[in-house]
Amino acid sequence: MREQDVTFKPGNHAIFLVFGLNKPDDTGPVKAICEDAPSFVRSLRNRYPAETVSCVLGFGSPAWDHLFPRRKKPKELSPFAEIKGEKFTAPSTPGDLFFHIRSSRADLAVELASLVTESLGDSVFPIDEVHGFRYFDGRAILGFVDGTENPDIPEESRRFAVIGDAEPDFKGGSYCFVQKYVHDMAAWNKLSTEEQEKVIGRGKFNDRELSDEDKPENAHNAVTNIEDENGEELKIVRANMPFANPGKGEYGTYFIGYASTFTTTRKMLENMFIGDPVGNTDRILDFSTAVTGALFFIPSLELLDELAAAED
Ligand code: HEM
Repeated sequence: MREQDVTFKPGNHAIFLVFGLNKPDDTGPVKAICEDAPSFVRSLRNRYPAETVSCVLGFGSPAWDHLFPRRKKPKELSPFAEIKGEKFTAPSTPGDLFFHIRSSRADLAVELASLVTESLGDSVFPIDEVHGFRYFDGRAILGFVDGTENPDIPEESRRFAVIGDAEPDFKGGSYCFVQKYVHDMAAWNKLSTEEQEKVIGRGKFNDRELSDEDKPENAHNAVTNIEDENGEELKIVRANMPFANPGKGEYGTYFIGYASTFTTTRKMLENMFIGDPVGNTDRILDFSTAVTGALFFIPSLELLDELAAAED
């Protein structure tokens, strides 16, 4: 089974599109997009061989039930259940269809998003659209390099991001969780560099991980660093992008994590928003508010083909 481009690097330009289903009875255009989106990518890659172009397409739980009522459902595909801690909340927001478009060029990303949107026509309505950009040397808008501890070797990225034998019917698929954050930049910028480094758990300039003595227990990379019962580190593949509307004073991070099992991502989120132990919440949340949260299933390329032709 071949996976969609879930282990790709974040890229220079990304567009994140979330749609709702508009016409519950007319499922034709939505099923057709399963074939059309990969063919749009093929065309752009053929025409611009020196550029990178990709489009990952996924389904939310209600859309899966509606579009494919007689098919099996991926084990962990259900609407994201809000996480409510004492201090912070990870909200759950709606989403039927999701597209993660990446390109080395902004115009190609916009072209792909336009082709997808035109094809879907009025079978869907827009819920959220974020245009992300690469910020300097791959930094989050908070000024810290983002993505360093992502799995790096291709086999490792696939093991963590792509469903294997655990779900034979959905092999080659992935669970994708997205969450839009807005940052309180005024409060963030009041911190000294040293204080900011203690929030993230890494050096700001050189991206070096803080030593165990210097790293607080509520640093972002301490809270999200998790292990299985055998002490093996559990990872996900992140491709976050900064976004900004400076005129409105809005600065944010579009978090996106692909995983072979959503349980891993969910544990990281619980650590951040509730804390383990309870109350040890992620210090990054003192400067970041989650405003969306949705889970999507990303079918393998073979399953996408099948879904395009699905009668049910
Ligand atoms: C406000 C939104 C977020 C920002 C700005 C952000 C930024 C960062 C940065 C700068 C790092 C350090 C460099 C690196 O290893 O990538 C990092 C690490 C990490 N983040 Fe986030 N992140 C955010 C949300 C999340 C969420 C929601 C999750 C999980 C659901 C997550 C999971 C991780 C993991 C697993 C690491 C690596 C930890 C380790 O060192 O083992 N992040 N993040």
